[in-house]
Amino acid sequence: MSLDKTTGLLKKAREWWTTKIIDIRPGIIRIKGTPIQDLIGNVSYAHMVWLMTRDDQPTPEQAALLEAALVSAVDHGPQAPSIAISRMAVTCGLPLNGAMASAINVLDDVHGGAGEQCLELFNRIARHPAGLSMDDTVTAVLDEYVAEHGKIIPGYGHRFHPVDPRAIRLLALVDAAAKQGVVRGRYADIGRAVEAALAQRASSKLPMNIDGATAVVYGELGFEPAMARGLFILSRSVGILAHAWEQKQQGGRIKGPMPPDIDYTYTGA
Ligand SMILES: CC(C)(COP(=O)(O)OP(=O)(O)OC[C@H]1O[C@@H](n2cnc3c(N)ncnc32)[C@H](O)[C@@H]1OP(=O)(O)O)[C@@H](O)C(=O)NCCC(=O)NCCS
Repeated sequence: MSLDKTTGLLKKAREWWTTKIIDIRPGIIRIKGTPIQDLIGNVSYAHMVWLMTRDDQPTPEQAALLEAALVSAVDHGPQAPSIAISRMAVTCGLPLNGAMASAINVLDDVHGGAGEQCLELFNRIARHPAGLSMDDTVTAVLDEYVAEHGKIIPGYGHRFHPVDPRAIRLLALVDAAAKQGVVRGRYADIGRAVEAALAQRASSKLPMNIDGATAVVYGELGFEPAMARGLFILSRSVGILAHAWEQKQQGGRIKGPMPPDIDYTYTGA
């Protein structure tokens, strides 16, 4: 092979992956320009998540708000499909990685991933042409949204909680952060206005749920909608891991979603 061709191939190989995230050389690991040893022991996990996924560093107050959202969604018990799947996978013999991957797979549009759609909805309201009041803007955007996607509004409604205690606490933290000038409070206003509009429209009570509340936090902190889903998965992975590990300690083989002596409903011939 000619020298020119070899040089060209080497250049092509080096340029195959490009990243601004990490620079690794023998004895050197720099994340976004900062040596890893200066980050270890000095920044929180939430700060690290921000540093890795954004182009800037968070202030301590921003990192604290992000951390609160990450803490809030870690677990919702074995009736949450992601947690049940994690436990069932372990009883089918899967190791922790398989159990976690199986569980994370269901964190899509309906369960856990709704924060992404919810933040998209909030952004639509935030970017709506000026001139309308907040209430009229919310009404107009909800009408558009329902026409496009059907009547279910992501980030609202809950099977168990008439009021979601996680949403109340997160919104209180956003309010406090807004008072300190850490965030604007615009997404909290939008989230509450959507909740009020749904109370007028829907047949049942539709409280802001965890996906709605974390969408408020992520919107306030300037994350893109797709990241709301990724961050929810990061958070819920802690619960998925904990339940997989607990099930491993408990043992049990091939546990289905219900005890076998409780029948399901057969509706066929
Ligand atoms: C979370 C959720 C599945 C809970 O559902 P549920 O309490 O079992 O409620 P149901 O699906 O039985 O619906 C009850 C009624 O409320 C309505 N409803 C429920 N959630 C709604 C929502 N987010 N927006 C509008 N209407 C909603 C249903 O259409 C239904 O109305 P109907 O009786 O007139 O047909 C549901 O609220 C939902 O899909 N929310 C949006 C997705 C979301 O945020 N997921 C994250 C959950 S933490």
